Amino acid sequence: MSKIQEAIPVQGRGRENLLELLKEAQNRFGYLPEETIVELAKSLDIPVGEVYGVATFYSFLSTKPQGRNVIRICKSLPCFLKNSPMIVKSIEEKIGIKPGETTPDGKFSLQLTNCIGACDKAPAMMINNDVHLDLTPGNISRILQAYE
Ligand code: FES
Repeated sequence: MSKIQEAIPVQGRGRENLLELLKEAQNRFGYLPEETIVELAKSLDIPVGEVYGVATFYSFLSTKPQGRNVIRICKSLPCFLKNSPMIVKSIEEKIGIKPGETTPDGKFSLQLTNCIGACDKAPAMMINNDVHLDLTPGNISRILQAYE
């Protein structure tokens, strides 16, 4: 039995379950290692490229190891119009990394994402599963401190 089959129940599930299986694998491993993508493709009998394509399409999935806290700042238009670039810059300055990077101590990863469904309280971001709304450069420090 492969590592992926030991970790998550793949048997009896097909290609239509791919996204769900990727989410389960990410929850289990913290990210989607290449080995997991290959094993999943074999288990579902679909091309590795297809699994990789899905794994890299969704911003909530990652093929790279992530920090303990993943910051996802909305980059969609309503948040952009409410100054999300200023929020990105403020966070970059506070934690010293750019989108797509992880702090050397592994505390934070920073990502840009599409709309998270909180446009009426833009700009918005998520840290792990927590949603933070009405962001300003002034309230970023207080929010980040909760994850120190
Ligand atoms: S556009 Fe940012 S939450 Fe919807």
